[in-house]
Amino acid sequence: PAAPAFTRPLALPRVLRPVRRTMTTDYYEMAVREAETEILPGVKTRVVAYDGSFPGPTIRALKGRRVVVRQSNDLDMDVSTHLHGGHVSPGDDGHPAFPVAPGDARDYTYPNAQPAATLWYHDHVHHMEAEMVFRGLSGLYVIDDPMEWALGLPNGAYDVPIVMRDIHLDDAGQIVWEMGDFQNRNTILVNGRTQPYFEVAARKYRLRLVNGSNMRFFNLSLSNGGDLTVIGGDGGLLPAPQTVKSVQLSAGERADVVVDFGAYEPGTRIVLTNAFGTDAATREIMRFDVGSPVRDRSRVPDRLGRTLALPDADVTRDVVMDFNPATNEWTMDGRAFDMNRVDIKIKRGQTEIWRVKSDSTHLPVPHNIHLHGTHFEVLDRDGRPPAPHETGPKDTVAVMAGSTVRIKVRYDRYLGRYLYHCHLLDHSAMGMMAQAEIVA
Ligand code: C2O
Ligand code: CU
Repeated sequence: PAAPAFTRPLALPRVLRPVRRTMTTDYYEMAVREAETEILPGVKTRVVAYDGSFPGPTIRALKGRRVVVRQSNDLDMDVSTHLHGGHVSPGDDGHPAFPVAPGDARDYTYPNAQPAATLWYHDHVHHMEAEMVFRGLSGLYVIDDPMEWALGLPNGAYDVPIVMRDIHLDDAGQIVWEMGDFQNRNTILVNGRTQPYFEVAARKYRLRLVNGSNMRFFNLSLSNGGDLTVIGGDGGLLPAPQTVKSVQLSAGERADVVVDFGAYEPGTRIVLTNAFGTDAATREIMRFDVGSPVRDRSRVPDRLGRTLALPDADVTRDVVMDFNPATNEWTMDGRAFDMNRVDIKIKRGQTEIWRVKSDSTHLPVPHNIHLHGTHFEVLDRDGRPPAPHETGPKDTVAVMAGSTVRIKVRYDRYLGRYLYHCHLLDHSAMGMMAQAEIVA
């Protein structure tokens, strides 16, 4: 079923209010439960949702202020919530070894002692994360920083989340889940609805682009060839803004871009276009309808954030992503995930270079790699420099079929076990995941 394009306005996920605040901490509560949502106009689609919202409610945290989220589980199966891009202790990381049983609840503590950034939270339960995220278990988590406000970037109503994902709906508008069913996931949602329009004032906006798909990659541009000024990536602000014509995001990646709609005549309609789409439904993501000019005091300064500035590496390691046709499993370094096995031990504070290779001998498909517990720098991709939006701290990076991406990694926070995996969740759920133990 398809709804006509650009007939419904962009929905903004509701921002969750804390149930309690103390001097140091904001407390939130949500329940994971089944719910209904209107993905298509007039059709009730059954989803699994954080607090009944699809996508889940947004949490806006403040750098330096702790957040505690009580997740209660109203489903009849385990769940486990991971804050993607968050630097949190291993016990708060949504590791599949620490699920929340049906009827139980768990408090997750997030220190927010990291740069302001666009993060997201999603389910990570053992072998089921792909299905549960597909059915609706994801939401946005933004860390704000008063220091960042001083930069003068667009904020408030002009700081807008654009969470994109694909879905497969049957004729009755219900979600069809099948592992690896990529070809049929050809309905694209923005903040939970198909092809919305968004009436913008003729001024600058900060758009927080999030790829919340299981497997789909987006290559995004404006249909009028307009500029996208990338100001941030997974881990927060880039060192300097990067003005580009397109941004490619693999599943799980984020890019914060500023678009100056003040550069266009009121009445201009601009489609956010996905060059990787194969038809109008997968190419035309949403439309911006430019309205009247309003006063705009926002600006994009020449200097924004920092690089990680990691020292020279002590260790180089290879990580090979592949498919095992004998077992039908996706593998990291030849093995499928075992949550009781430590795959690599890493000294805290040690700088490493990881050569991450997507071996395309058995199945030539793109992957990406996501690290829990830290950020990394992208050094190069098959010897070529990273894309402009990859020049800041990253937690997820695309590894195209047959290619090798070198990243510089240092875990310098908690000791314990952190996952690293392909964020094509149908792959991670089928084995393409491993764990590092950070040791003293
Ligand atoms: Cu976005 Cu291991 O996750
Ligand atoms: Cu993969």
